[in-house]
Amino acid sequence: VSGLYLTLIMIGLLFLAACGTADDATADSNAEGQAEENAEKPVLRVGTEATFAPFEFLEKGEIVGFDADLLDAVLTEAGYEYEYENVGWDPMMASLQNKDMDFGAAAITINDDRKQTYDFSVPYFKSTHMIVFNEGAGFTSAKDLEGIKIGVQNGTTGESAAEKVVGEKNSNILKYDSTAVAFLALKNGDVDAVVTDNVVADEYVEKNPDANVEAITDDETFSAEYYGFMFPKGSELVAEVDAALTTVIENGTYAKIYKEWFGAEPNTDVLLE
Ligand code: ARG
Repeated sequence: VSGLYLTLIMIGLLFLAACGTADDATADSNAEGQAEENAEKPVLRVGTEATFAPFEFLEKGEIVGFDADLLDAVLTEAGYEYEYENVGWDPMMASLQNKDMDFGAAAITINDDRKQTYDFSVPYFKSTHMIVFNEGAGFTSAKDLEGIKIGVQNGTTGESAAEKVVGEKNSNILKYDSTAVAFLALKNGDVDAVVTDNVVADEYVEKNPDANVEAITDDETFSAEYYGFMFPKGSELVAEVDAALTTVIENGTYAKIYKEWFGAEPNTDVLLE
């Protein structure tokens, strides 16, 4: 009898030990999995040029704007920590080409030219161009750009849009490091007009009543384009960011951010098709 008890106790002990081991194993592999996951997720470096309100601009030294909020939502969804750095437009482009940064969030237009050097996320914003000029100049269409001094941000689609009207390498096109400096040149009289993204043009006119400027678009000359996050060519992050961005668009977070910045409901159909 005592032999039987002993056997039962032994079996019981073995059983408990096995359970304990199993539990430990699960706990261990979870902890390891977590650590591995974190180790695989570096703090991302995201670049921008932050004088492009309302998409990215500085407020008390912090980069704020529609892009800043969207970026935060997307990387929170994807489970990444990140640093958003105001490095300037040309340096951002160079860093992404050299793979020194993980991606750019700077109202960057997706186009075939850039696709040769960089990869892009799915589109997140529809844009076109506008001409900003001093009140009273009486410009009514893109044709009025001919023969006047035009300020653009160097290396942007605003530059290409102006070139499309007055010709490439036209010395009347003055190129600045940022759109903010191009607007200053307009104020100083160094240029007669600035060609830039429509929402940025509207924002500048609205937020700077003292500048006495107005803006027009020209649907026959300027075509629609889309913003995306821009990555070094071959980046493995694109798929993850795309998945998170699509989720954020589909689950209503995008619409919430859009409403906060633009006071209207977005048309997400054009983004998801
Ligand atoms: N959308 C235009 C482009 O991609 C202008 C972007 C300028 N962005 C900025 N953050 N300054 O060329």
